Amino acid sequence: MKVELRNITHAFDGQVVLDRVSLEAADGEMLSILGPSGCGKTTLLRIVAGLIKPDSGSVLFDGKEMTDVPPEKRGVGMVFQNYALFPNMTVAENISFGLMVRGKRPAEMRERVRELLELVGLSGYDKRRTEQLSGGEMQRVALARALAPGVGLLILDEPLSALDAKLRSGLRREIRRIQRETGVTAIYVTHDQDEALSISDRVAVMSTARVEQVGTPAEIYAHPKTEFVASFVGEANMLGGVVKGDVIETSIGEIPNIDKIEDGKVVKIIIRPEELRRDCEEESLAITGRIISMESAGGEVKGLLACGETELRFRRYGTEAWFGTGDTVKFYVPLKSIRVISQRSTS
Ligand SMILES: Nc1ncnc2c1ncn2[C@@H]1O[C@H](COP(=O)(O)OP(=O)(O)OP(=O)(O)O)[C@@H](O)[C@H]1O
Ligand SMILES: [Mg+2]
Repeated sequence: MKVELRNITHAFDGQVVLDRVSLEAADGEMLSILGPSGCGKTTLLRIVAGLIKPDSGSVLFDGKEMTDVPPEKRGVGMVFQNYALFPNMTVAENISFGLMVRGKRPAEMRERVRELLELVGLSGYDKRRTEQLSGGEMQRVALARALAPGVGLLILDEPLSALDAKLRSGLRREIRRIQRETGVTAIYVTHDQDEALSISDRVAVMSTARVEQVGTPAEIYAHPKTEFVASFVGEANMLGGVVKGDVIETSIGEIPNIDKIEDGKVVKIIIRPEELRRDCEEESLAITGRIISMESAGGEVKGLLACGETELRFRRYGTEAWFGTGDTVKFYVPLKSIRVISQRSTS
């Protein structure tokens, strides 16, 4: 099912929490919505599900206007952070609840429950009660229950945030597998960038009430369009710059004005820490600086380099990664890895 949101605007008590949000999820796509706490993610999902009617804008499923269609008629399965399974019921009863309401026959329901338990990796769990399940198992059951009626869209609101880190990464791969196997369109809300980048076909990055950028995980990371996206997704060195004709002047040197940004414009330069290289393999900006600190993080070393007044974070990998504090070191930053974001004009 294809999902379109057009110019969704919504306010609570006069406070605008969604401001002309437009988004699309293609049929079978996994779209995540990534943004900080309070930016409007849950509100947006509730609007898609029909639990909130937006002040303006429209929701379309396969091109059909949904605004006045009640939640139970939208064919949307939902999974939330806080399990929300029915207590005092078995796993099978939880999963078949929505089928019973739809008047399915017992034999049909049993078959569907069996199929779904196999899909979510819980075969044989049908008679367990919800209080006898771990957090991860509960979320698998919640997923099976959401998928049970054969929905066209699955929405997941931080489904893994109550689980510990190790379980989270395993279960997110499982969710992705299940989404692919069933071909269901999914909208996945999270404030965890690793989760969003690893699980999705595309990511929509939100700041307060707005969508800042939509793209594949690789696009979002390598080509952030705004400062917010650059700083929210991954680590970034962010420096000021000013356009002087064919070059952009920055505190670590001049770089070519490839995008032909207007003379006098103030820009932000973004350099990812891993783009500070030791070898000059392509056209690069050479930077010489002094090591301020080095910090080991498993197989990776995180360092801080001072170039005059500017501090740059860098990363190194493997056994030859270490420098001494105070060492003078030369790095090369490939020009094509440097992102330039236009800001206001100085004139
Ligand atoms: N029913 C409500 N009445 C009034 N204000 C609300 C209501 N629901 C949400 N809000 C406000 O709307 C804003 C967006 O809330 P929302 O729950 O959509 O954020 P979120 O991005 O899901 O955040 P989190 O990551 O913390 O879950 C917040 O400022 C919140 O306080
Ligand atoms: Mg939320």
